[in-house]
Amino acid sequence: MSKSYSIAVIPGDGTGPEVSREAMKVLEAASARFGFRIEFHSYDFGGERYLRTGETLPEGAIEELGRHDAILLGAIGHPDVKPGILERGILLRLRFELDQYINLRPVKLYPGVDCPLKDKGPEDIDFVVVRENTEGLYVGGGAFLRKGTPGEVAIQESINTRHGVERCIRFAFQYCRKRNKERKLTLCGKTNVLTFAWDLWQRAFNEISEDYPEIETDYAHVDAITMWFVKNPEWFDVIVTDNMFGDIITDLGAMIQGGMGIAAGGNINPEGVSMFEPIGGSAPKYTGKGMINPLAAICAGAMMLEHLGEEEAARTIERAVMEVTARHVKSLAAGRMGYTTGEVGDLVAGYTEKIRTNP
Ligand code: IPM
Ligand code: MN
Repeated sequence: MSKSYSIAVIPGDGTGPEVSREAMKVLEAASARFGFRIEFHSYDFGGERYLRTGETLPEGAIEELGRHDAILLGAIGHPDVKPGILERGILLRLRFELDQYINLRPVKLYPGVDCPLKDKGPEDIDFVVVRENTEGLYVGGGAFLRKGTPGEVAIQESINTRHGVERCIRFAFQYCRKRNKERKLTLCGKTNVLTFAWDLWQRAFNEISEDYPEIETDYAHVDAITMWFVKNPEWFDVIVTDNMFGDIITDLGAMIQGGMGIAAGGNINPEGVSMFEPIGGSAPKYTGKGMINPLAAICAGAMMLEHLGEEEAARTIERAVMEVTARHVKSLAAGRMGYTTGEVGDLVAGYTEKIRTNP
């Protein structure tokens, strides 16, 4: 009997459902070709449901999602819901409660994609950011003192545990080894100012590096790394960093790889259930127009297959996406692709069915 995967799909808000549909289309094409089965189970979590019921994730939702093999998320974010409610109530809650302690964000410039960096091409931009995904400033620790008075104090704490930092760094070393490209891991931090958190990170990094003698190590301050991303992106292979810095530098990473239309990420629990998503938002103004680019969601689907062990299928989808960027779409920007959302999905699905898999 062929392998079968049960996938929870959370299409979510705005253009999330449109891009998820194309990701599923391409995953179906890959499953037919590579001989495995995928069953999709859709969940209506998101802004509409919240406005209707007042609840973000209903009772038992996390347990239920945690019984699937993986989760595919479209987008969360609704113009009529106050910022923070859906982000904390759905996205961050899933990351935390499913203990998806890695946020894996590849930054790769595909052929034919316009890059805002002068004189840089696909051979220069190909690295992966390993972002810690359950700690740091995202824990939500802190307090107000004397709130609403002129003497008000707001404290926002960054929580860094040895356990959390260590498992993230170990994952990064292992990922770098498996990726087997430059075999270089860069720690991105702020050791010159944030002397508690980054002291712990740096010590853990140095100690763990001894278990990976074949991996070259490097360090960059977070402010400097934003400069290097623009000036010398070819220096990077794998980068490991904390939750907040990882959030910030991966938006810059997305821009140098051609924009939010192509950037995908995985929220990974190596021992549990992982969730894959295009990292752009719900783009409400494009909802239902067939203008949004589904490639990021399709790439998230490919990352999901790779994570599930369907590596050849994942590689094939990536190649199919490259054919489409190199030969078809005019731009990755919404409304300027020269194709509708569904047509881009059809193109990728078509190549996924027939493209040669070996170089
Ligand atoms: C991301 C997003 C989220 C984050 C928001 C929506 C909570 O920006 O996935 O990068 O800050 O992690
Ligand atoms: Mn972000």
